[in-house]
Amino acid sequence: MVVLVSGSGTNLQALLDASADPAYGAQVVAVGADRDGIEGLARAAKADVPTFVEKVGDYENRGEWDSAIAARIASYEPDLVISAGFMKILGAPSLDAFTIVNTHPALLPSFPGAHAVRDALAHGVKVTGCTVMLVDSGVDSGPIIAQEAVPVLPDDDQEVLHERIKRVEHHLLVDVVGRLVREGWTVSGRQVHIGNQPGNPNPSEGESK
Ligand code: GAR
Repeated sequence: MVVLVSGSGTNLQALLDASADPAYGAQVVAVGADRDGIEGLARAAKADVPTFVEKVGDYENRGEWDSAIAARIASYEPDLVISAGFMKILGAPSLDAFTIVNTHPALLPSFPGAHAVRDALAHGVKVTGCTVMLVDSGVDSGPIIAQEAVPVLPDDDQEVLHERIKRVEHHLLVDVVGRLVREGWTVSGRQVHIGNQPGNPNPSEGESK
């Protein structure tokens, strides 16, 4: 898998740690970012995983960046792309070429977008959580694979709540990605089913993946 990051890369680290065990079934072949100098890239380097950076500002327009990042990802021939705190919307060249899994720090469809933890706190919810889903052309709107709830406590600020969510998120992402690669998956409308379906013994064939 290719993992895309924009920040501290703690979800990337969870995937790197899990994939150290061959029984996990997946390996990180490259880490991509939309900016330099982030901890996520340092984590990849420390694990001897190749990295690449594609900045939107280095291209004439967004369409050119969309094509460039898709080409960089494709050069590693991944079976899966994981958006792990990657704060850019991927365009058609990536959406058409790859199965992309995203992790989000809220219980979608509540609080999509780049400020999910802040928005959940501001709304006064008492329970939030994290969502692992497939990426489609919308913002955090793809079919949901798994979710886990996390309580919001009275004195929480954004940082404290996000840390509590991340501790749950790391396990959920590692678990979901491992099961996807080991067992395969099918997608029917908004339903994602992990494992072989009766009548579809090879989930990599046909219109489902
Ligand atoms: C994670 O909580 C992830 O869900 C969130 O950014 C954080 C990245 O943390 N992503 C989004 O908000 C996307 N909408 P990390 O860099 O430490 O893995």
